[in-house]
Amino acid sequence: MTGRRCYELGAGVGLTGICLALLKPKSLVLTDYDGDEEGQSVLKNLEHNLALNGLLTTEPPVQDASGISDHLFERQEKSTVDIELLDWFGATEESLASIASNVDLVFAADVVYTPSIVTPLVRVIHGLIKAAYPKKLQVLIAGTLRYANTFKSFLEELLEGDVAIEEISKAVRVEPLFLYEGANDVLLYHVIDSRFEGP
Ligand SMILES: C[S@@+](CC[C@H](N)C(=O)[O-])C[C@H]1O[C@@H](n2cnc3c(N)ncnc32)[C@H](O)[C@@H]1O
Repeated sequence: MTGRRCYELGAGVGLTGICLALLKPKSLVLTDYDGDEEGQSVLKNLEHNLALNGLLTTEPPVQDASGISDHLFERQEKSTVDIELLDWFGATEESLASIASNVDLVFAADVVYTPSIVTPLVRVIHGLIKAAYPKKLQVLIAGTLRYANTFKSFLEELLEGDVAIEEISKAVRVEPLFLYEGANDVLLYHVIDSRFEGP
């Protein structure tokens, strides 16, 4: 991820994005839609969490009396992050083409949680990969197995496009860090344009 142009779909509270920022990508854009059923703004909350972590591009520098604070130093060590609105239901072919021209790696963590989002999310992933070609845009998907059937239909619908999907869960599996790990399996997938596959 270091030095790459990274983009996240459904960033939520921003934990994945904050971890990505620490890996010093060339650029990092975190996206989500602008409201949940309670009318809370997901993007506002995301912005707040990034600010708490000193990661907002627009944030003014924090300085102590000497003019250089530890906090500022830490911030310069990390990449800064941008927040953008991307609603999978409203994304157009043109908007996806414009995103794809500025991005190398797309991340999506725990975004397959209800059947209604499967088709629009798959359309966004296909649209980004297709628009980027002949550049190789890589999509990394982390799926928490909440509802096996929903995730299965997501993978099936994803395979209907001209993409190659590789499960890389085992390759990147690390020892559990938290007590609750293991309760839900997390599967990781790497998705690219199928024209990059084969001899
Ligand atoms: C289960 S959360 C995962 C959040 C985050 N990626 C994580 O792993 O903590 C699913 C995310 O998908 C977002 N989402 C749901 N429908 C969406 C849509 N139509 N367009 C964009 N994002 C959407 C939600 O707002 C939420 O942030």
